[in-house]
Amino acid sequence: MGPVPALDERATACARRLQEADRVLLASHIDADGLTSAAIASTALERASLPHEVVFKKQLDETEIASIAATEYETVLFTDFGSGQLDVIAEHEQAGAFEAVIADHHQPADATTEYHLNPLLEDIDGASELSGAGASYLLARALADTDESTPTDNRDLAALAVVGAVGDMQTVEGELVGANEAIVAEGAEAGVVEEATDLTLYGTQTRPLPKLLEYGNDVRIPGISNDEQGAVAFLQELDVDLRTEGTWRRWVDLTADEKQTVTSALLQRALERGVPSEKAQRLVGTTYRLLGESEGSELRDASEFSTLLNATARYERADVGLAVCLGDRDEALDRARHLLETHRRNLSEGLETVSEQGVEEAEHVQYFDAGEEIRETIVGIVAGMALGIDGVDPNRPIIAFARKNEEETKVSARGTGRLVGRGLDLSAVMTTASRAVGGDGGGHDIAAGATVPAGTESEFVDEADTLVGEQLG
Ligand code: C5P
Ligand code: C5P
Ligand code: ZN
Repeated sequence: MGPVPALDERATACARRLQEADRVLLASHIDADGLTSAAIASTALERASLPHEVVFKKQLDETEIASIAATEYETVLFTDFGSGQLDVIAEHEQAGAFEAVIADHHQPADATTEYHLNPLLEDIDGASELSGAGASYLLARALADTDESTPTDNRDLAALAVVGAVGDMQTVEGELVGANEAIVAEGAEAGVVEEATDLTLYGTQTRPLPKLLEYGNDVRIPGISNDEQGAVAFLQELDVDLRTEGTWRRWVDLTADEKQTVTSALLQRALERGVPSEKAQRLVGTTYRLLGESEGSELRDASEFSTLLNATARYERADVGLAVCLGDRDEALDRARHLLETHRRNLSEGLETVSEQGVEEAEHVQYFDAGEEIRETIVGIVAGMALGIDGVDPNRPIIAFARKNEEETKVSARGTGRLVGRGLDLSAVMTTASRAVGGDGGGHDIAAGATVPAGTESEFVDEADTLVGEQLG
């Protein structure tokens, strides 16, 4: 049995179908979850001796599906997308173009296909309990289980599934839950994943201490966060010397005692400076380590690993990210690290753009138009990060626009767990509002997106605002 019994039957049916194929076209999404999905599926196919080719798509729309249908492949495996376009895929299946196997976690369109593995079909939440990589992992486990000749049980692939889930921001109050948690447990048993309680700041593996504290996370500590000198002064005032030959060490280089000293001082400082204790406690939480990676590498920490992957795939270099997932620790990793520098800069400049230009208020939503200032492939990430900054209401859905090309505008929407609890479903909002203006969209309740014709932005906001108003009642 797989780690998520409710999905066993679907995973097994999908695996058996793949085993009947002479060769498979594997199509996946260009983000951290999509890359890890592809890496997991590709490795499992390889181990099952199933020849295949991997392609990545920014968005799976009618045109992209038609181009897939035009290939010679009779079996197409979609990972981290496909469910949202089930209607279009079903039409191509009926026309005999190909047969689809889908391992996804997005809201399914209104249609049915035979080989469809999606948590939402079994009442498991696709935004917080299982990612695309998680669905692909279940498929990989089933592929091993249904094939005597596969030499492993594929549990080692749990490490990549954890990276995908963390990359998709699936954690709930800092932890992976539900089916994701079951995958963490399998990874721990296989010796590839370790769950640890540690500082939750981004960059514990790679950043020198002052940078780690300066850039921080959603918990802002006055006098330290966004304050280079403040961060250095804070560290210098501690009783321990955290430098080696004058150079600041990284968090991973510290001893347990030193980590304890810094953590206590940091918490104390946060409380002294008025950070509510509930929030300050978020500085410490669950982190996921990949035991097969060396300490001090981005790849050791699931969160840093996933950011590295986004830095490749969202810049048209999915090949680089895939190679890293598949084990290339030389050329591909070097290249990915370079891309990461650009990605980080783009995120921070993007956030600055939002903070300078501010957001517009509708009745139930807030929105901003980034035009060409923010790449359409990362505007969703920026929108999510913007929900934590000054001048942006953290309790209202945010909608972001970015120019895709002359004819089209990209839309990204982000909400919060609390809003979803009150009835928010951004997937439905994006689908309905985009169709009303001649576009298309989908996603999850908490995070969704769309493409709309250029010029329809304000009409789109009106539609979305009305829908959100209805949902939040
Ligand atoms: O297409 P895919 O499902 O992989 O993308 C999910 C997107 O939704 C990611 O960009 C992720 O950051 C966002 N998300 C979020 N908060 C959640 C779940 C997902 O911002 N709780
Ligand atoms: O692009 P963005 O990060 O905003 O996407 C958020 C979620 O919405 C992702 O899960 C993505 O796959 C989905 N989406 C979609 N259709 C679109 C755009 C985004 O289903 N046209
Ligand atoms: Zn995903």
